[in-house]
Amino acid sequence: MSIVFDQQKKLLTLATAKSAYQMQIDDLGFLQHLHYGARTGSQDMSYQYYDFDYAFSGNPAERRSDRSFSLDIVPQEFSSFGEGDYRVNSVAVVNADGSRAARFHYVSHEIRSGKYAIPELPASYDNGDEAETLIVTLRDTVTGLMIKLYYGVFEKLDIITRYTEFVNDGKGPVTLEKAASLCLDLPMGTWDLMHFWGKHAMERQPERAPIGHCITTIGSTRGTSSHQHNPFVIICDHDATEDHGDCYGMMLAYSGGFKAEVENSQINSVRAVMGIDDTYFSWKLEPGQSFHTPEVILSFADGLTALSQNYHHFIRHNVCRGKHHLEKRPVLINNWEATYFDLNEDKMYALAKEAAALGIDQFVLDDGWFGARYDDNAGLGDWFVNTKKLPNGLDSLIQKINDLGMKFGIWVEPEMVNEDSDLYRAHPDWALTEPGRKPVFGRNQLVLDMANQEVVDYLYNCLSTLLKEHNIAYIKWDFNRSVSDVYSHALPADRQGEVSHRFVLGLYSLLERLISEFPDVLFEGCSGGGGRFDAGMLYYTPQIWLSDDTDAIERLIIQGGTSYGYPVSTMGAHVSASPNHQTGRTTPIQTRGVVAMSGAFGYELDLTKLPESDKEAIRSQVCQYHQDEVLIHQGDYFRLTDVTKGYFTAWQIVSKDKSGSLLNLVITRPQPNPAPLHIRLKGLDPDALYKIAEDDQIISGSALMNGGYTFRPMMGDYRSAQLHLTAVS
Ligand code: DGJ
Repeated sequence: MSIVFDQQKKLLTLATAKSAYQMQIDDLGFLQHLHYGARTGSQDMSYQYYDFDYAFSGNPAERRSDRSFSLDIVPQEFSSFGEGDYRVNSVAVVNADGSRAARFHYVSHEIRSGKYAIPELPASYDNGDEAETLIVTLRDTVTGLMIKLYYGVFEKLDIITRYTEFVNDGKGPVTLEKAASLCLDLPMGTWDLMHFWGKHAMERQPERAPIGHCITTIGSTRGTSSHQHNPFVIICDHDATEDHGDCYGMMLAYSGGFKAEVENSQINSVRAVMGIDDTYFSWKLEPGQSFHTPEVILSFADGLTALSQNYHHFIRHNVCRGKHHLEKRPVLINNWEATYFDLNEDKMYALAKEAAALGIDQFVLDDGWFGARYDDNAGLGDWFVNTKKLPNGLDSLIQKINDLGMKFGIWVEPEMVNEDSDLYRAHPDWALTEPGRKPVFGRNQLVLDMANQEVVDYLYNCLSTLLKEHNIAYIKWDFNRSVSDVYSHALPADRQGEVSHRFVLGLYSLLERLISEFPDVLFEGCSGGGGRFDAGMLYYTPQIWLSDDTDAIERLIIQGGTSYGYPVSTMGAHVSASPNHQTGRTTPIQTRGVVAMSGAFGYELDLTKLPESDKEAIRSQVCQYHQDEVLIHQGDYFRLTDVTKGYFTAWQIVSKDKSGSLLNLVITRPQPNPAPLHIRLKGLDPDALYKIAEDDQIISGSALMNGGYTFRPMMGDYRSAQLHLTAVS
């Protein structure tokens, strides 16, 4: 049993292999949070806390006489609103009478086997006997607003998931103005916050800082999870390293705007609250109606590496779905950086032919194949072939590519429309625009109103027709601007606060219909690179294009930052041209291959213009990737260096049974008189002997981990090395 209720002490304890989570119903019926961290057996953790009067922290009427209890001080499982807790709130409401208070008392709880699902939203799943569910119901006695706190406990995987259902169990309407998925109090400790910031073409840069006595907000108001912040944060002990120290991960499985707030209070108690962004949010609940928040995936581990590995396994096995998520992925050639919009059948065929000769598995036709799409001014919304560019239609090109022995994939950007398109001319009211105001443009395009069912149905018809009528094995699903003008012409004035979230629900419902109807198609997410790289999208698309920056050296940080929460199998990563189109940097083809291979691998450059030596290198990279892919995607991933520091970056992947490993190293700052490039390996079997294919040495696991490996100096720009280790005893 991973969930236990102690009736006498009113304790609810959730246990995973290496963590424990405990809460207690107190005398007043509040649900207090007692512990989340390393295992504590069956111990009642309330011994850590005592009642005390803190000046200016108010007392509820029931404890007015002894003044020793305040909601402002006690750790809570889900913080209330307007009831004397001045820390970050988890909920904000407007009640039918205009009052704004909400105070929740325990009503009941229920333990179920298996994992809950969430209506209309992505939710991690149980592969059979992996999870138990706890549902704790709390209620505001005055308004009848009920909250149901859901917990999914994956005991062996060291994962606890949470989400909140709000139910209007009262007689009048209630409007939610904030509805968090998670509130987590960490009453003791000295913590750092790690988060992953960025911008277009520079996503998920890791940043770590002590949590001061303030409120830190990580979030997005852009209608997508965004390039600027990722809905994944880590709170770790100030001294935590890759190998040791208390580390908590909080990952929101949601692709719209989000908010993660972290507050260090007056008594050094840290509270994290995470959920949908409340800037563009209000949701009216009539009596009897419910609202479901997205899920937060929590993990606790000793050290950052163990934390990342928990997420890697969980995302691969319990979030990503479908035929492809655990399968080998095709090696792609994408035409975007080869031709941009300037495509035609001859050029595409020439590129595909060259790719086929190099062993590449799949051709992807990117932006520009449809409507009047010659640049980014026109065409979005018109999902029919541009016969000026492809006069023989899509099928002719697809057939020729299939005849080369390659699969065919195609790019779409369904949620967008250009003013210059047949779709916009027919349905201007299908775009998000504010009445009486000129809209904000991004890349010359407007955002379609995915909160409008008619729009979602239209897109479903376009895309399902495309997939039914053509032999398409892969879809790249793009989204190239932030959302603005959050106003739906299909909803009444008092429902406009629902548009942002309904937009995301519309997207999810469209994806769900398509992936169910076309289970053989591999979907890759994308948003101007990695602007929507989150566990919500990964529920529908098992891989996501990581960034529009394809420079291998920049990618080391982007991929390294992403690796804190997400497995390499989810990271679309391509070898592109040198000099690189985004940075102008020149890097060897070998280094570009080494970096992109730690991902869902592919190419994105004009192969027809490459020298024979580069083609030869590509041919052997594709072969090598096919040999190593199982190890790369299924093995345990170790960051051996801090990707933001130093003059080289190294990372390693070790097979689950420790029989093989791949060590990767890239020099990021070549130096004269170089110091030895020395690195200690991780995760090997200390008692095994490993043969290193590249230098024929046989060295023990313990020596490689405790002594290390020294690379010979490498002269030249951004050189790299890859070592294959195989256990020989
Ligand atoms: C942004 C994507 O990230 C690129 O790979 C490419 O597909 C362009 N959009 C096309 O417009």
